[in-house]
Amino acid sequence: MATEPGADCTEFAPAKINLTLHVTGQRADGYHLLDSLVVFADVGDQITVRAADSLRLEISGPQAAALPPSDDNLVLRAARLMGVPAAITLEKRLPVASGIGGGSADAAAALRALARLSARPLPTEAEVLTLGADVPVCLKGRPVRMQGVGEVLTPVPDMPKAWLVLANPGVAVATPAVFRGLSRKDNPPMPAALPALRTAEALAAFLHGQRNDMEAAALALAPPIGTTTAALGAQTGCLLARMSGSGATCFGLFADAASAQTAARALQSAQPGWWVAAARLLS
Ligand code: C5P
Repeated sequence: MATEPGADCTEFAPAKINLTLHVTGQRADGYHLLDSLVVFADVGDQITVRAADSLRLEISGPQAAALPPSDDNLVLRAARLMGVPAAITLEKRLPVASGIGGGSADAAAALRALARLSARPLPTEAEVLTLGADVPVCLKGRPVRMQGVGEVLTPVPDMPKAWLVLANPGVAVATPAVFRGLSRKDNPPMPAALPALRTAEALAAFLHGQRNDMEAAALALAPPIGTTTAALGAQTGCLLARMSGSGATCFGLFADAASAQTAARALQSAQPGWWVAAARLLS
């Protein structure tokens, strides 16, 4: 049943974190084959939709200035795919072009909200993929192993309790440029069967043997990424520090909330110009 006329539907658009990101090949169409352990955090954007005669999007929130209104906005493209005219509000809290899937999470949240508003089914997986390679994984919103170009999704149900400090040094990174800068595109995948990851320490031990294959190319384009992983790694006592996606956001992994929150506060006061957030991993 569709939501009552005039009612709002609100959906959270959680930050997406690539705990690993292996680039294992390239298709004939140029898209890269990936093998990535993807999780979501309890920090994110928020989408609100309300039935309207025509489609419109208003962007507010602390990161709104970085996202000028555009007909190409992924939220509007998602709404056109659903074929539902609506007044949409995007509360933009995640930094844009930052490797934590903000735009893709917003598109996925818009699809979910518009499906609820209109009682229409979600688009097919193939249709969702046309919005972007990260939109299908964001539609899941739970830990998954992501393969193919982003469309092969295997749930990873037994993730441990863990916390993250997310840090972005304020440089936007264009994903295609990072892919172009890769020195090789045929890196080994993760093990076929992931080990049991029952604690944050076990997760960190596993991750230490895995990689983000985009980190070196991103660092060459955006040197502050090096300062960010170094600050997370050396100054916060985290179990592991690494870049997410194509950057520039990096994460530190923690076994408890208090340590993550203390580390986030210390990092934010040391680096007032950075975007820093403590977050729980959504399991
Ligand atoms: O699919 P999306 O628009 O999010 O991807 C942005 C760009 O990143 C693509 O245009 C492509 O250049 C690159 N990309 C890739 N392989 C992927 C995902 C993205 O080469 N699996």
